[in-house]
Amino acid sequence: MTDITALENETLAAIAGAGDEAALEALRVASLGKKGSISELLKTLGGMSPDERKVNGPAFNGLRDRIQSAITAKKLALEEAALNARLASERVDITLPVRPEPVGSIHPVSQVFDEVVAIFADLGFAVAEGPDVEFDDYNFTKLNIPPDHPARQMHDTFYVAKQADGSQHVLRTHTSPVQARTMLAQKPPIRIISPGRTYRVDSDATHSPMFHQFEGLVIDEVTHLGHLKWVLEEFYKAFFEVSSVELRARPSFFPFTEPSVEWDIRCDRSGSQIKFGSGSDWLEVAGSGMVNPRVLDNCGIDSTKYQGYAFGGGIDRLAMLKYGIPDIRSFFESDLRWLKAYGFAALDLPTLDGGLSR
Ligand code: DAH
Repeated sequence: MTDITALENETLAAIAGAGDEAALEALRVASLGKKGSISELLKTLGGMSPDERKVNGPAFNGLRDRIQSAITAKKLALEEAALNARLASERVDITLPVRPEPVGSIHPVSQVFDEVVAIFADLGFAVAEGPDVEFDDYNFTKLNIPPDHPARQMHDTFYVAKQADGSQHVLRTHTSPVQARTMLAQKPPIRIISPGRTYRVDSDATHSPMFHQFEGLVIDEVTHLGHLKWVLEEFYKAFFEVSSVELRARPSFFPFTEPSVEWDIRCDRSGSQIKFGSGSDWLEVAGSGMVNPRVLDNCGIDSTKYQGYAFGGGIDRLAMLKYGIPDIRSFFESDLRWLKAYGFAALDLPTLDGGLSR
């Protein structure tokens, strides 16, 4: 019996000390393989008397089972250790170091888009959109500017090559076609605002071939110029973050409105910065008017029942005035130093209660 115990201890110690799977396999062959020490021991049972076998059989078999499970357990432990070692050696660091300073910022045009939307949303206006490449029909004809109308010349239009079906597209020259799209798609009451990109063949310090406008449209059974003036006053007050503004109406002409009114805002240009709400200067800020009944009829709205007002103005100009940016072309040069100077923090969304620009 003592040599079985010795054999067991010796084998278990060797198993415990096996450094890798190959060494363990060699130990398994040496103990449990065909000619292994324990297999040889088991073979001796055949030559024993029944009494000896009764004692040694269970002892030898128990020994074999214990060695077998020790090998299995060690094998699992070695496999796990090998896997862990491999995972550790193949680890990839997918994290990135934090940038030393936030580099992205919101472009002043995007900022003003958000400010315009925040203010008009508060007044109950929804946001509507239209494409930059627009049907000639929506950009002009539906807005009461037929093909031979002289007002077309004022727009310096970028024309797109005619389609196979003869239809003509343009790069929209104003955001007003969104009026047509909205009236064709919705029933009154309508109250929308639409900021977006617009295009005209024009380029100098105050004109860019691509620029931005915002459009407003209200259609209901009863609307009048007083509503329009109030809405514009509320807008400019909130936008320039002053407690009062004064607007001056000038008669004007737009084919899509009748009557048409242009608005100037009272300002003070005597200092180095322009101020709104006081002063003796006037600055033109928006075109507007009562929607021409012809436009309503062109867009499927019963002009005997409904009327409305519309307004539109330049976004880039608003941004230049509010944030003291002298040249419109700098908006589109993608100069990072300029963006750093005039950009806005990425997570500060303008809201009326949280602050529009600060
Ligand atoms: N679309 C005009 C322009 O680009 C601006 C404008 C004037 C828009 C009068 C309007 C409006 O909605 O009623 O010059």
